[in-house]
Amino acid sequence: MPSTHSSSGLRAASLFCLIALSRAVPYGHVFNRQTTSSIRNGCFISNVDGQRLLSTATYASDAMTVESCASFCFRHKYFALEYARECYCGDSYTAQPVSDIQCSMPCAGNPAQKCGAGNRVDLYTNGLYVPRAPATLSTPYLGCFVDEVPRVLPDNLLGASDMTAEKCAAHCSNYSYFGLEYGRECWCGNSRPKNPAPATECSFPCSGNDSQLCGAGGRINVWGSPLSSPENVGDFEYAGCFTDAVGQRSLRGKTTYDSAMTLEKCAASCSGYDHFGVSFREECYCGDVLEPTAVEVPQAECAMRCAGNYSQACGDANRLNVFSNTQCLPDPESPLSVGKFNYQACWTDRVGDRALGDVVERSDNMTVEACAAICEEYNFFGVEFGRECFCGNLLRGEIAPESDCTHRCSGASTQLCGGVDRLNLYHATVLPTATSVVATPTPTPTLPAEDEDEEEPTVVLTDIPTPTSTLPAEDEEEEGPTPVSTAAGAEPTDTDVEDEPAPTPI
Ligand SMILES: *[C@@H]1O[C@H](CO)[C@@H](O)[C@H](O)[C@H]1NC(C)=O
Ligand SMILES: *[C@@H]1O[C@H](CO)[C@@H](O)[C@H](O)[C@H]1NC(C)=O
Ligand SMILES: *[C@@H]1O[C@H](CO)[C@@H](O)[C@H](O)[C@H]1NC(C)=O
Ligand SMILES: *[C@@H]1O[C@H](CO)[C@@H](O)[C@H](O)[C@H]1NC(C)=O
Repeated sequence: MPSTHSSSGLRAASLFCLIALSRAVPYGHVFNRQTTSSIRNGCFISNVDGQRLLSTATYASDAMTVESCASFCFRHKYFALEYARECYCGDSYTAQPVSDIQCSMPCAGNPAQKCGAGNRVDLYTNGLYVPRAPATLSTPYLGCFVDEVPRVLPDNLLGASDMTAEKCAAHCSNYSYFGLEYGRECWCGNSRPKNPAPATECSFPCSGNDSQLCGAGGRINVWGSPLSSPENVGDFEYAGCFTDAVGQRSLRGKTTYDSAMTLEKCAASCSGYDHFGVSFREECYCGDVLEPTAVEVPQAECAMRCAGNYSQACGDANRLNVFSNTQCLPDPESPLSVGKFNYQACWTDRVGDRALGDVVERSDNMTVEACAAICEEYNFFGVEFGRECFCGNLLRGEIAPESDCTHRCSGASTQLCGGVDRLNLYHATVLPTATSVVATPTPTPTLPAEDEDEEEPTVVLTDIPTPTSTLPAEDEEEEGPTPVSTAAGAEPTDTDVEDEPAPTPI
């Protein structure tokens, strides 16, 4: 018979290499697999001109059976048995079969089965074949992509010898996308990779789970959630994607920031308002009026993920996802008289140049009546920013449009409690000290600049603790427009700051 032994030295060497190669993959457990449903394809010549028919992995044993070879080759579509005790694995072959008579040797571990002969193999389609696949996770698998410098998912690289898709998903939980590359690298990012590669090019097993695929060199398996923002959140219904701008907010009521913002959190924060809007991952704006400056734009412009749930859209830089309350809410009003006080007007106020001296009370239960009671001994009182109460006998500042006072009172959503740098001002009809009232509606000299934007942004920065929902810092938070920029790096506008930082490839 044409014997493999004629080239046994060469063959021993290649067998050694193949075994060394296959040892890189932990497969010991597979010998426990149960019987095969493999299909025999015929008898084949196993070695033509030094090219083996199947050669991806191999082993030899005196206990060789069809089942043990199938089990050993479970990562491969085909397996072949040769010379009674040798097993070869592979994923493709091109040869034609020869006569079955030429495969004459019984298997070493089961003489009832045939195991090829010298340079002849019994070749099977492997019924135990379990291909590696990208893991199935709760976030959708997007495919195999080309990676290059700059990295397609540039952030938060983690390399590990126990890498799995689950581990990477957890590591990148605050990002919109994550990907696995080179068997052991986990990358995070917020934009979807654009250059797809054939699935077969993402072929490396994950270092922490041999069943899973983890990209390859320059190839990355990518997962990420498509947006699935709900149409309804509590009493609110989606209204669209609208423009927004620093200094000209589209929703001018309460504002909150949360590093884990979700639509549900913003809806809760804005309960009692007619609208809420989410922007730039973690910002939430409430308002009773969607300002006429807000222009509806295509939905695609509001595709940034919410920091606390990346299935949900949270606007973008200068873009708001706006939801509108479906309940009929009473419009908030300023009570015209409270005790001895009568309502005057919406009035300007500034940090550092207060209309009525320092704030005397801040409360999540603020109402016009509560502030009136606190200020019983004074000529004036005013409520501001939804939750602040001011008292005084001297008044600075000037009248402002009623439309500037947009915050509902934290303790009474039907009442108005000022706005950003705006007081709802009340004046006592019976003056306790008749001579001391100095109303100064002189427009320009008292307050050289009323612009919200002129408030010192650096102060804002230092006073804004990032993690929790409602801002505890009271005065400084009144500069609604600035916290975003400053929190992200002391830039003067949203736009500058909100641009993605340049990726830093590793
Ligand atoms: C390995 O990955 C497979 C496929 O994703 C999964 O079914 C299996 O549970 C994982 N094994 C471990 C130990 O996590
Ligand atoms: C995500 O969390 C990591 C720390 O786990 C942090 O370094 C990174 O800045 C966060 N990224 C975003 C977009 O929040
Ligand atoms: C994230 O948002 C989606 C879509 O609104 C929702 O189905 C899912 O329950 C949310 N996940 C969490 C953890 O809240
Ligand atoms: C608001 O009022 C409720 C009872 O009406 C009280 O339990 C709560 O402590 C008050 N909160 C504040 C901040 O005053």
